Amino acid sequence: MSASTSTPNLAVAITTTGPASRHVPQFKTERLLCRPLVEEDWPEYHKMLQEEQTMINAGVGPMLFPRAARAYFNDQRQDWASVGIFARKWDDDVAEGEFIGTGGVYWSKDRLPEVCYVLKQKFWGKGRATEFLNGFLEVWWNMPHITIDMCVETKFLDAEERGVVPERLTAPIKVDRDDSQNVVKKAGFSDRGEVTIYDEKYILFRLFSPK
Ligand SMILES: CC(C)(COP(=O)(O)OP(=O)(O)OC[C@H]1O[C@@H](n2cnc3c(N)ncnc32)[C@H](O)[C@@H]1OP(=O)(O)O)[C@@H](O)C(=O)NCCC(=O)NCCS
Repeated sequence: MSASTSTPNLAVAITTTGPASRHVPQFKTERLLCRPLVEEDWPEYHKMLQEEQTMINAGVGPMLFPRAARAYFNDQRQDWASVGIFARKWDDDVAEGEFIGTGGVYWSKDRLPEVCYVLKQKFWGKGRATEFLNGFLEVWWNMPHITIDMCVETKFLDAEERGVVPERLTAPIKVDRDDSQNVVKKAGFSDRGEVTIYDEKYILFRLFSPK
């Protein structure tokens, strides 16, 4: 079934479940240490925001003005359920503790939770985004969850879905971004069809809660 719709602004009230808090606890994977971002992470985070290709791919473009970059950092820390991704140990391309990127869930009252991950360019192509996402999902589904009411655009739901709907994570990814699509596919997300967001075409991936 296609997720596309000609009425993109139609929103409906739904009841679902979601995490009780945006605080994602620290966790480790084989190569990564993932923990909430702190003020001291700002200089390295800022360098990532200035990487042209990284931020174009992330959908926002490089942030060359410090004030805008700083606002983005503050938003991510306050409004997202996300973590910074750091090297857990020395490797051929990284020092222990080095900042690698960020990832987590963008989550506002009127939008289904969306996973997102951004790595500094020098760390691409080594399987780290997949390693992060698999570790993150394990933590995410095990966080305390509560019932939540939201208003969601119908294009993010199945045609018949109204009222109480099962919890899920979504990932709208631009149609030409095979690298990022691969990451969610490897983590078990399924392709729900094409969806248009602000006149751009995305593939909407989703993963239902295993609980
Ligand atoms: C998209 C992005 C997150 C991908 O990160 P990544 O770490 O390169 O992605 P993956 O985890 O899929 O790893 C890529 C490849 O590394 C290779 N690789 C090398 N060493 C590996 C290892 N030890 N283990 C696993 N894979 C390894 C694999 O070939 C893998 O691809 P495949 O499994 O599909 O064959 C990264 O390019 C990025 O941050 N881009 C900018 C921001 C962005 O686009 N974010 C997504 C939208 S919000």
